[in-house]
Amino acid sequence: MKYLPKDMNKKPKTTFLHDYQPPPFTINKVNLHFKLEEEYTTVRAELSLRRCSNSRDLILNGGPDLKLLTIALDKRPLTAEEYSLEPSQLIIKNPPQEFILQTTVRIKPHENTALEGLYRSNSIFCSQCEAEGFRKITYFLDRPDIMSIYTTTIEAHSDRYPVLLSNGNLIEKGSLDNGRHFARWHDPFPKPCYIFALVAGDLAVLTDSFTTKSGRSVELQIYSEHHNADKCGHAMRALQKAMAWDEKRFNLEYDLDLYMIVAVDDFNAGAMENKGLNIFNSKYILARPQTATDQDYEGIESVVGHEYFHNWTGDRVTCRDWFQLSLKEGLTVFRDQEFTADTSSRAIKRINDVTALRNLQFPEDAGPMAHPVRPASYVEINNFYTLTVYEKGAEVIRMLHTMLGEETFQAGMRIYIARHDGQAVTTEDFVQAMEDAWNQSAAAPVPASLEQFKIWYDQAGTPRLYINSSHDPDAGTFTLTVRQEPGPMAGSAARLSHIPLRLALLDRQGNELNLKLKGREYPASGMILHIKKATESFTFSDIKEAPIPSLLRGFSAPVELKYDYSRDDLRFLLRHDQDPFNRWEAGQRLMTASLLAQINNFQAGIEPQAEEDIIDIFRTILTPDFHPDATFKAQLLTLPSEDYLSAQMQEIDVEAIHSIRELYRRAIGRRLESLLLTTYRDNTPPRPYTYNPESAGRRRLKNLCLSYLMAARTDKAVALCLRQLDEADNMSDELSALTTLTHAGCPEREAVLAIFFEKWQHETLVMDKWFAIQATAPLTTTLERVKELMK
Ligand code: BES
Ligand code: ZN
Repeated sequence: MKYLPKDMNKKPKTTFLHDYQPPPFTINKVNLHFKLEEEYTTVRAELSLRRCSNSRDLILNGGPDLKLLTIALDKRPLTAEEYSLEPSQLIIKNPPQEFILQTTVRIKPHENTALEGLYRSNSIFCSQCEAEGFRKITYFLDRPDIMSIYTTTIEAHSDRYPVLLSNGNLIEKGSLDNGRHFARWHDPFPKPCYIFALVAGDLAVLTDSFTTKSGRSVELQIYSEHHNADKCGHAMRALQKAMAWDEKRFNLEYDLDLYMIVAVDDFNAGAMENKGLNIFNSKYILARPQTATDQDYEGIESVVGHEYFHNWTGDRVTCRDWFQLSLKEGLTVFRDQEFTADTSSRAIKRINDVTALRNLQFPEDAGPMAHPVRPASYVEINNFYTLTVYEKGAEVIRMLHTMLGEETFQAGMRIYIARHDGQAVTTEDFVQAMEDAWNQSAAAPVPASLEQFKIWYDQAGTPRLYINSSHDPDAGTFTLTVRQEPGPMAGSAARLSHIPLRLALLDRQGNELNLKLKGREYPASGMILHIKKATESFTFSDIKEAPIPSLLRGFSAPVELKYDYSRDDLRFLLRHDQDPFNRWEAGQRLMTASLLAQINNFQAGIEPQAEEDIIDIFRTILTPDFHPDATFKAQLLTLPSEDYLSAQMQEIDVEAIHSIRELYRRAIGRRLESLLLTTYRDNTPPRPYTYNPESAGRRRLKNLCLSYLMAARTDKAVALCLRQLDEADNMSDELSALTTLTHAGCPEREAVLAIFFEKWQHETLVMDKWFAIQATAPLTTTLERVKELMK
């Protein structure tokens, strides 16, 4: 996700959540003046401060990169006795109750390679302040619960830096002497300093507009380097789509008259939600068919959406302190997931997200990096932009949504925003809003409490659900016994979680049975059990024949579900479950069981074999009329990853896992060659390339078939790859063929890599892919290759 450099000058100091104190001073207004020059930048800051505690001194964050030039209080320069300057602090001794502090500092953006604070790269001045970068720009109370109204003036050389941007609305601009000019920006919404931004450079702009539901016209601008100006169209459409969706689904409307995005090549993270002026890593903006893959197109939509959605969940309502990071990130990831689900396919999006969660977040939560969604302490906040805070955080929001339902959840959102607009708040405040909405709704259990639910925020580890079932034909009852265990990393004082378990019961024909529990009836399509105790039994009545339970539908909680499904049950669910997630899950369980069995054989020195029933399953799924959706088929046809298999083993045997997975891939390629070839042919979308979920799905399926064919490494497969590489009119096909050839270790790979290099050496983002393919090849020569490439 983010790879931020550690500041080596910082002494390790632990910050604790329970030490939180409200800020001793507030800063209502901030006036900034930036004089951008080649050697250094001069920053003048005018802060309107007011004491709101009994603390005597004002301690501002800042340094060591700041060189203080002037300092004045209410326009009077301070004497040396009135302040003290420390390596990372400026202390103003006993200032008045209310005053204006003026400082001037000098910084060196062109020497700033940490890419935090203000930096210059490719002749573009650009800022990144989250989490604690603002203190590298000026002396300030650099904490998110200080919310201020900003006016920012930027002055620079007109030719070199024709574009001067900051947050809010442009209120003044003009020319100055010596070929220089200035622009003044005002942002009417109080904001924390971490979403302050400044950009200056010679940039191209793509302009469009959006009319909000209340009829206001918002100007939309996407800035990029001139040679990339033709690659911003997709991002613009994504932005318009996101704005429309947020109005429709969350009733949230954009608040300024202008929304700007800037794409830069050198950026620590993916993108940043600065108020009215998002800054993006160019790979999440730039796309054209020849250089961007379907995945890139998808990524752009979701990241553009994500940063836009922060406008309400992050910018207007922000975090009290950095422990609350998931308040904005978990919620905004949930929102961007829902955006993608609503505008493409819900089932497919869910499968992709759960795959990522299980492959990446579960291991994080089971290893030495395990930490709660809301950590209790940190040394370096930059190291807490983790999968747990983001992805598990989004799952926590999703569970609330599952329990409350869309209508009540949206009522909770309305309460949250109305109550906290312009404030810096905590995850408890969010849960409280949801609890209040739940209690106001008719469908709630009385009283609805989310007390136990909050444990999700404070306890690490993936909980486990052990479920047993028994059917009593005489009584006509079916009983599920559910036992929960906190994850191994939950700690010794682990508490029990409140887990929403969505389920349905299927009869032998695959119909969903009516659900009767304790005299109450629930819809056959599914109900939610609230698992809160260590062990609990649920007895369903009027069940004549032993049903097959479809458990944890839609992956209704981020837990590990242990239920002893027979392979017959799984084959049945794979065919009949109405819940697409569980259908896919049944296939994954079958494959996992089979692969693990053969891994065992491999380790025991018994000749492993690709099991026949797995080949059969692949054959069934590959038949044209199995399912109309190509992406869903591709998901069903994807073997569990090596990461996922590793997580299922006590001791991870990397070699065994890799060999067995390859053995299966080879067997599939060999045994199902003609079906794979037909599927490949039938799923080649018409030219010219256009990005849309449907044709992206067909390309995904087709290229998956190609990779199975290549696993068998027939001459036919190699020829097919080479032809695809030659004829491709889009980067998805070109890259898939190149990757397959390279990763299979084909002798042809050097030649095709060289051709690709020749063709794309001037496209930075494409070259990134060229490096990545080689660095991720599962070959013994990879390490050597990476060393060569580094030269
Ligand atoms: N606020 C973050 C970006 C960020 C955080 C930048 C900390 C620098 C330091 C932004 O909203 C974000 O979460 N970006 C993600 C992409 C997103 C789609 C999950 C990223 O940059 O990876
Ligand atoms: Zn974010």
